[in-house]
Amino acid sequence: MYKKIISPFLFLFDPEKIHTFTFFLIKFFFKIPVLGFLIESFYKVESPKLTKKLFGLTFENPVGIAAGFDKNATHISEFEKFGFGFIEIGTVTPKPQQGNPKKRLFRLKEDVAIINRMGFNNDGVTMIKNRLKKKYKVLIGGNIGKNKTTPNSDAKDDYLICFKELYDYVDYFVVNVSSPNTPGLRELQSKDFLNDLFNDLNKFRSNKKIIKPILLKISPDLNQDKILEILNVIDKNKIDGIIATNTTVEFPVLKSKNKNEKGGLSGEPLYDKSNDVISFISKITNGKLPIIGVGGISTPEQAIKKLKAGAHLVQLYTGIIYEGPGVAKKINKSLLNHKF
Ligand SMILES: Cc1cc2nc3c(=O)[nH]c(=O)nc-3n(C[C@H](O)[C@H](O)[C@H](O)COP(=O)(O)O)c2cc1C
Repeated sequence: MYKKIISPFLFLFDPEKIHTFTFFLIKFFFKIPVLGFLIESFYKVESPKLTKKLFGLTFENPVGIAAGFDKNATHISEFEKFGFGFIEIGTVTPKPQQGNPKKRLFRLKEDVAIINRMGFNNDGVTMIKNRLKKKYKVLIGGNIGKNKTTPNSDAKDDYLICFKELYDYVDYFVVNVSSPNTPGLRELQSKDFLNDLFNDLNKFRSNKKIIKPILLKISPDLNQDKILEILNVIDKNKIDGIIATNTTVEFPVLKSKNKNEKGGLSGEPLYDKSNDVISFISKITNGKLPIIGVGGISTPEQAIKKLKAGAHLVQLYTGIIYEGPGVAKKINKSLLNHKF
């Protein structure tokens, strides 16, 4: 129904406006208590076969919502009912910021893709932290970044502020140094910056009763030498895992009329590229480093192939836009018949 009736209608309108409008509708309908219950019974696939233990956490199933979808943590209790095993909020920055001027989000229908140049629009860490004080069943990842106005020389402080503020309210952290829409952000994928940052994050978490996992989210546009350098930093600092990958700025040949928009490309054209990064990391680390695989998944087959490439869990963004919220159920049902 989503692909035949709902998405053709939604796709008539501006993507960002539709995102906001559907978020409003979801909140509105979930006020009817029985509806939440019905949605959960329809969409959730529960089985011990889907459970995955990773970096000290138990994921009910391996299909999560990628960062950027529920940036402000406003819809966690709604999305958990659609059967996702974990939800990554953010990217969160210390101060609220509006992001880049609109229009900044583009569908590429013929390519089953999206180009975005949102630029970390978010409500800021304090407001987001307050929303997370409510208890949720689903595991929550906190994806953290820096404000646009913070120079790279002070970027470490921004990550530390978000880490400390959110520490008691999320289950794992993601250091995002790979979004292409904050000028200079991807330069923070440097060995020196990451060593320095991880050192401080580790110092902070070592004094805590619960040691929360830290993952690094990387760009798909890194060459193998650079990935090796990053894996070394991860190993040296005992970082818990990696998220591969963010959006790409290296566009392949695309068909859609929006193909020349500036920003990061996600969806199907990113699929193989992110799989290559995952396979490479998995090979180098002998499958021992936990990898969350993200990029271009919209079908169960694509999710399974990503897991086979070496991902331990998967996440989706663009696939939810094109397939609808039932995509987690479809993937999980299919995973019941596979070893992963
Ligand atoms: C509109 C949009 C906003 C995004 N915002 C963020 C973000 O704030 N932080 C982040 O780490 N990734 C962000 N991403 C990247 C996704 O989390 C994901 O890594 C990427 O889209 C590839 O997955 P997909 O092909 O399933 O969409 C965003 C993606 C899109 C499409």
